[in-house]
Amino acid sequence: MEKKFKRTTVTSALPYANGPVHIGHLAGVYVPADIYVRYLRLKKEDVLFIGGSDEHGVPITIRARKEGITPQDVVDRYHKLIKDSFEEFGISFDVYGRTTSKVHGETASDFFRTLYDKGEFVEKTSMQYYDEEARTFLADRYITGECPYCHAEGAYGDQCEKCGSSLSPTELINPKSAISGSKPVMRETKHWYLPLDKHEAWLRQWILEDHKEWRNNVYGQCKSWLDAGLHPRAVSRDLDWGIPVPVEGAEGKVLYVWFDAPIGYISNTKELLPDSWEKWWKDPETRLVHFIGKDNIVFHCIVFPAMLKAEGSYILPDNVPANEFLNLEGDKISTSRNWAVWLHEYLRDFPGKQDVLRYVLTANAPETKDNDFTWKDFQARNNNELVAVYGNFVNRALQLTQKYYEGIVPECGELTDYDRQTLDEFKDVKAKVEELLDNFKFRDAQKEAMNLARIGNKYIADCEPWKVVKTDPERVKTIIYISLQLTANLAIAFEPFLPFSSKKLRGMLNMENFEWNQLGRTDLLAAGHQLGKPELLFEKIEDDVIEAQVQKLLDTKKANEEANYKAKPIRENIAFEDFEKLDIRVGTVLECTKVPKADKLLCFKIADGLENRTIVSGIAKYYKPEDLVGKQVCFIANLPPRKLKGIESQGMILSAMDYDGSLSVTTVEREVKPGSEVC
Ligand code: MF3
Ligand code: ZN
Repeated sequence: MEKKFKRTTVTSALPYANGPVHIGHLAGVYVPADIYVRYLRLKKEDVLFIGGSDEHGVPITIRARKEGITPQDVVDRYHKLIKDSFEEFGISFDVYGRTTSKVHGETASDFFRTLYDKGEFVEKTSMQYYDEEARTFLADRYITGECPYCHAEGAYGDQCEKCGSSLSPTELINPKSAISGSKPVMRETKHWYLPLDKHEAWLRQWILEDHKEWRNNVYGQCKSWLDAGLHPRAVSRDLDWGIPVPVEGAEGKVLYVWFDAPIGYISNTKELLPDSWEKWWKDPETRLVHFIGKDNIVFHCIVFPAMLKAEGSYILPDNVPANEFLNLEGDKISTSRNWAVWLHEYLRDFPGKQDVLRYVLTANAPETKDNDFTWKDFQARNNNELVAVYGNFVNRALQLTQKYYEGIVPECGELTDYDRQTLDEFKDVKAKVEELLDNFKFRDAQKEAMNLARIGNKYIADCEPWKVVKTDPERVKTIIYISLQLTANLAIAFEPFLPFSSKKLRGMLNMENFEWNQLGRTDLLAAGHQLGKPELLFEKIEDDVIEAQVQKLLDTKKANEEANYKAKPIRENIAFEDFEKLDIRVGTVLECTKVPKADKLLCFKIADGLENRTIVSGIAKYYKPEDLVGKQVCFIANLPPRKLKGIESQGMILSAMDYDGSLSVTTVEREVKPGSEVC
């Protein structure tokens, strides 16, 4: 970081308070932001970390309506749940506010008013859907109808969830109000627009020329928005949940949620520092950094900066390190499909293991592309890295000190070449980690910290103090001394990433407060210093624990498939004579065996009232052969014989395919004579 800045304001996207937070939120925004501020604090820099809940917007009103409660009830519930989850994970906000606070209402309202008075908005009337029964304009999400592309029912005015097309409400076929069910009508409405087109020139210069250092994904998205040309954006909505538009003639209108939410960063700062908030937002020597997910890029790089610039007294962000998305076991995380690992559930299932999740999410951080979280990888990283590398090294160093020196740091004797080489290697780590953190490369930075533990592990394994102690006890003192210095360094290096473990380790080392600049030093623990009690830093996670989590997801997947099942459309009519040609019969299963070397096939001997026949059927995955013997099944009797795995199959047994692809054999309700016709 160049030294022109005196302090850093770090914001992290305000999550919508209409549901709990999951691993995608943590990985995309809050863990990287927290690593960054912990690092700056450890460097004794002046930093402020702002968070809070985003409590306006249409989805919150929809949720409230569905549950028969008020929007305020919804946000009260989730604000608390989200705030608690963040706290439990050690996300070290200086303030975690909310956009329904009084201070925020006033701040956002004043902000709008300032822009309004300066003539920074344009007013426009447009036609919008109105529900005459409910006497309200309808937000896009409140209008449903048939998708003009895939013709699915129940598409929303902004998107069809079946085929994924973005829509505008007027494209819907047979639109219906989701509030009253009535047919909406078009009505004229007036709104205020931020004329982004007027800001395009300076935005182009500021982003495309002056901030070439922004991450590729961020820079690229901004470039394509700018190249496509910017248009005025409405900053008000017809809605009864939000901050009222503070001008005359705006009854029933509120600020658009994306207008008020980013101002929430400012209000939350005010809430914390009513007298000194301005220096964090208006002093050019303050560096502003926004941590967000990729779906927020346009708002933080284009719309909010345009708002700040239009207001005139604010600084602009210096960097916006946006992440891509984290998937879960290969599928997109989705709140509505319950496809997520919820933080409050993780805390219940893995108490005390916050750092494990922090570690895994950083190791897999979606910094340059979407990434995948899998439970197998979670287990492997815990067992093979945290336990086997970091934990193992620390445990060896501390246990040996306990065993040989009653937990007192020994004197360091003369260094060997190998000692020096090891120390040189680990002195480099500080500069490397700094360079990476300064450039928001959290994955690689954490890898370097882990590398420090690898160096330690190798050192102690190579030196074999448990052998040397028998021949050269003086030498062992040096080995342990060096190992303990490495351990103390690990506590510092990992503090931004794994704060709980660092705290525990600091206790075990009986270390005073430390700071980043001590990293790389070899005198962190003086000879004669008494260590605390050694404990295990991490513990192995067993297979059954992981299997239970995987099973939970499989159950969710199954429930979703079941809920989404829709029968296939009926095929084109056929001629009655064609139907009459089919000869469907009932047969009794005499024998049923697995077909060797074919995991799907069963071979049946069927009594058909004539000569009996052999039929091969692909239902082996769904039945035990012995369970079918004696059953009556329906089969097509007049198909030409076919060879399957060398067996001549004389017909086809009829089965029903369930929503999940599984097969259920058709049978008759009352026993009939073998060979009976199905007609
Ligand atoms: N609530 C938004 C989301 O979850 C983020 C708002 S960020 C802020 O996508 F800038 F508006 F605060
Ligand atoms: Zn569609």
